[in-house]
Amino acid sequence: MDRIKKLCSYLDCCKSFADVGCDHGYCTLYMLKNNLCESAQISDISAKCLEKAENLLAPYMISGKVKSVCCSGLKDINKDTEQILIAGMGGEEIILILKAAFIPEKFVLQPMKNARLLREYLIENGADITVDEIFESGGKFYTVIKGKRCGKKTEYTLTELKYGKALQSEATKRFLKSELAKKERYLENPVNEAARKTITEEINTIKEVLSGDNR
Ligand SMILES: C[S@@+](CC[C@H](N)C(=O)[O-])C[C@H]1O[C@@H](n2cnc3c(N)ncnc32)[C@H](O)[C@@H]1O
Repeated sequence: MDRIKKLCSYLDCCKSFADVGCDHGYCTLYMLKNNLCESAQISDISAKCLEKAENLLAPYMISGKVKSVCCSGLKDINKDTEQILIAGMGGEEIILILKAAFIPEKFVLQPMKNARLLREYLIENGADITVDEIFESGGKFYTVIKGKRCGKKTEYTLTELKYGKALQSEATKRFLKSELAKKERYLENPVNEAARKTITEEINTIKEVLSGDNR
């Protein structure tokens, strides 16, 4: 629940909101309870998952504030929806969803893995990334990428592509320290030369970031 609360703190007040891959529907409930949107669409590829959100949001569905749609990705989501959340899926799955449809006017994306691929896709397609940081919840680390379909082109260094824009935030530092420990432990085992070289380079990059020297 703490992850949901933190994730929702990245959402802005908007006219129309869509929660793609909504599952339980808690994020939409947050938007409505806090009067952060006038209307919302909830969607999920799984009818069973969507039913959970429909039950949670039943009063809002009855009043017409929330519409539900069972579909893959953005297929049946209005293209003019002001803000769209896609959270809790892999970065590659989120890319497939965007590729098959459109980059939302305003988006909050929370990939569970492959955040770098998602950043690269958004940058290549002209999105304006305004927030790209790590937050911590329940001992786990999550990347959140927030931005707009178009705006000023976002520039990234190689290190930012790997770990996000907030390289000096406390959460990123804790994440990098845990990654560093994992990689160092990994190298204590027999590893082939090529893999050892790659992991050693990654370790050096992380150490540079942690020392504040990441140009
Ligand atoms: C782990 S849950 C995340 C739920 C919620 N968004 C969150 O962040 O807590 C992932 C949800 O995404 C749905 N899902 C996976 N792929 C999808 C797709 N291509 N289109 C729509 N929903 C999808 C799953 O059915 C599942 O309900």
